Amino acid sequence: MRVIIETDADAAARLAARWIANTVCDKQDAVLGLATGGTPVRCYEYLIQWYREGKLSFAGVRTFNLDEYVGLVPDHPESYHRFMREHLFDHVDLKPENTRVPDGMASDLESACRAYEEAIRGSGGIDLQLLGIGRDGHIAFNEPGSSLASRTRVKHLTEETIRDNARFFGSESQVPRLAVTMGVGTILEARCCLLLATGNHKAEAVAAMAEGPVTASVTASALQFHPQAVVIVDEAAASKLQRGEYYRTVEAAQRQRLPVREF
Ligand code: F6R
Repeated sequence: MRVIIETDADAAARLAARWIANTVCDKQDAVLGLATGGTPVRCYEYLIQWYREGKLSFAGVRTFNLDEYVGLVPDHPESYHRFMREHLFDHVDLKPENTRVPDGMASDLESACRAYEEAIRGSGGIDLQLLGIGRDGHIAFNEPGSSLASRTRVKHLTEETIRDNARFFGSESQVPRLAVTMGVGTILEARCCLLLATGNHKAEAVAAMAEGPVTASVTASALQFHPQAVVIVDEAAASKLQRGEYYRTVEAAQRQRLPVREF
C-alpha cells in the first residue's frame, strides 16, 4: 500500500485528480471506477477544469460507479446518478452510454447486480478505481461485517452511515436503508485502487485500514492485499497513522523515480 500524505484537502484532491488524468492520458479508452460523497467533489472539479483547458478528454473513457441507493429514481436530488451528472458527467465529454451507475430501481435487483458485474468484466475490467472511506472503514457500501470476497449486491446501511449521510437528505428518516454496491471482491479486481481521505473525522478509519489487521470489520483493510493500492490523505486524515514519517520518507524518494505528471 502506497500512502501519500499531502498538506491539505485541496492538495490531496489535486493529486488524486492528477492520478486519474494520467491514467486517461496513458490509455484513452481507460475504464474508471468512480465514487460519490463529499470527498471526491474537489477531485472532479480539477478534472473538469483540465478538460475545459483542453488538457484532457474522456471521449473514449468508460466509467462504473461504486454504488447507488435502492429506491431513488435517477433524477432524485440525492441519487448517485444525479450526483455524478452534477459533479462530473455533465461537464466533460464522457459519452452518456459509457457511464454506468448501479440501478437502484431495478425490479429484479439480483439480476441487475449480476448484469453489472458482467458489464465490468465485458469492459475488460477497471483500470483505476477511485474510493472514499467511511468513518467505520467501509469502502463503497461494504459495511463492517461484509465479506471481503463479496460481489455487487444489495446491502443494508449501518446506523452510522445513515447518520453520516443524513446531512445530504436533511434528516435520517429520509436516508434509504438499502443500497446496491460493488463488493470488496469486485473492487479488489481493479488494476489500481486509489483511496482518497481527508479530514480529522477519517483519521481513525485511515489508520485502521492501513496499519490495522485485515478484517471484515474494516472492509477498506482488504486493500492491504491489493498489489496497486494508493492512499492519498491530508495531514488531518493522516494524524493517527503510526508510520507517518516512514511514508513521507518513502514518498519523497518514490516521487523522484515515479513522477505523477502535472496538469
Ligand atoms: C460513495 C462511497 C462511500 C463513500 C464514503 C465516504 O460512492 O462509496 O463509501 O466513499 O462513505 O463518504 P464521504 O466522502 O462523503 O465522506
